[in-house]
Amino acid sequence: MQESQPSPIALTGRPVISATGLFTPAESISNAELVASFNAFADRHNAAHAEAIAAGEAEPLPYSSVEFIEKASGIKSRHVMSKAPILDPETMCPRLPERGNDELSIMAEIGVAASRKALERAGRDPQDVDAVLCAASNMQRPYPAMAIEIQQALGIEGFGFDMNVACSSATFGIQTAADYIRSGNARSVLVVSPEITSGHLNWRDRDSHFIFGDVATAVLVEDAAIAPAQHWDILGTKLKTVFSNNIRNNFGFLNRATPETAGSADKLFVQEGRKVFKEVVPMVAQMILDEAMRLGIDPQALRRLWLHQANAGMNRLIAHKVLGHEASEDESPTVLDTYGNTSSAGSIIAFHQHSDDLAEGDTGLICSFGAGYSAGTVFVRKIG
Ligand code: COA
Repeated sequence: MQESQPSPIALTGRPVISATGLFTPAESISNAELVASFNAFADRHNAAHAEAIAAGEAEPLPYSSVEFIEKASGIKSRHVMSKAPILDPETMCPRLPERGNDELSIMAEIGVAASRKALERAGRDPQDVDAVLCAASNMQRPYPAMAIEIQQALGIEGFGFDMNVACSSATFGIQTAADYIRSGNARSVLVVSPEITSGHLNWRDRDSHFIFGDVATAVLVEDAAIAPAQHWDILGTKLKTVFSNNIRNNFGFLNRATPETAGSADKLFVQEGRKVFKEVVPMVAQMILDEAMRLGIDPQALRRLWLHQANAGMNRLIAHKVLGHEASEDESPTVLDTYGNTSSAGSIIAFHQHSDDLAEGDTGLICSFGAGYSAGTVFVRKIG
């Protein structure tokens, strides 16, 4: 008698979030440490340019301040992959030894660490994952894709590719993964966001030196038919982009074609913070309200908002417009205080750390926004 084949599971085409994973670097820099380093750099700079400053030909570099940073941004500390060189006023940049082509690259390494946690939480065997999307604001190299390296390290068959939508990369990745599920092209997709933002931050720029931190997150998006009993139904996803130069980084492969400016400050993260604040808050609040209406969700009944973590004031205003009242920390949790802005990973860290306590049936929103401009919403409901 022939052994009968197990009958294939009937897919639903309904995407869910089965689990998330988080990798946090061990080292962290407090505002006090950061400001001490910046001010030591400013002293050196001003001493080196004392004559020009005295002659009125150059402006002295002003000090940074812990009070300003905390008040303007809500950030108190940030995790980094390489603390000592960042704080060394001579270096003010991470130092990560170059690895051989036969070694796992550092971005893939932290992406794999976050992915393993997500797979473990979902009880998912890597062999049952169909695709890996590496969705982040900076890639370590143009090719081969980080996603393919992560795929190989995890032992996943199928395919992988990289995508960059700056701070919104993770939500754009979630919608892309959800669309694979909706179309039946995949059953299980890993969206990985390794963010070594310390590499693109100008630690010598007083206006922005406090903003970013390093981290990696992973989100496992699956067909409801194969998801673990406890998961998050994806009720709807929406993406939006509007071109803006207010957050810009001119780093790229053509820099070597203009060697005289290849090392200038615009090849790192640069922003007009005030303009970003003013323009992005109304755009995102309206997008959330429009999408809630389209999905038939009462925004004021949302149990929790997991917002992009760039600025506490922005989140306060967006949450107020959406919920119709001042949001409590329980309604709109902050991870910005200890992680800083981790670009695309921010809203996923908030979701990862502040979702276990919600009850079955609770509805919430993962929302990202940033450079591009780009914004993404993922409305979810807890099941199980
Ligand atoms: N320490 C002390 N003072 C500082 C400082 C620092 N590190 N950096 C700037 N200042 C000063 C400025 O010189 C300015 O002084 P002035 O009023 O005498 O000219 C004053 O503080 C205000 O500067 P400004 O840049 O207008 O601050 P802000 O209140 O807009 O806060 C940000 C700056 C970046 C925190 C804020 O604009 C922000 O977070 N915007 C949103 C950014 C965002 O979400 N970006 C997305 C990135 S992905």
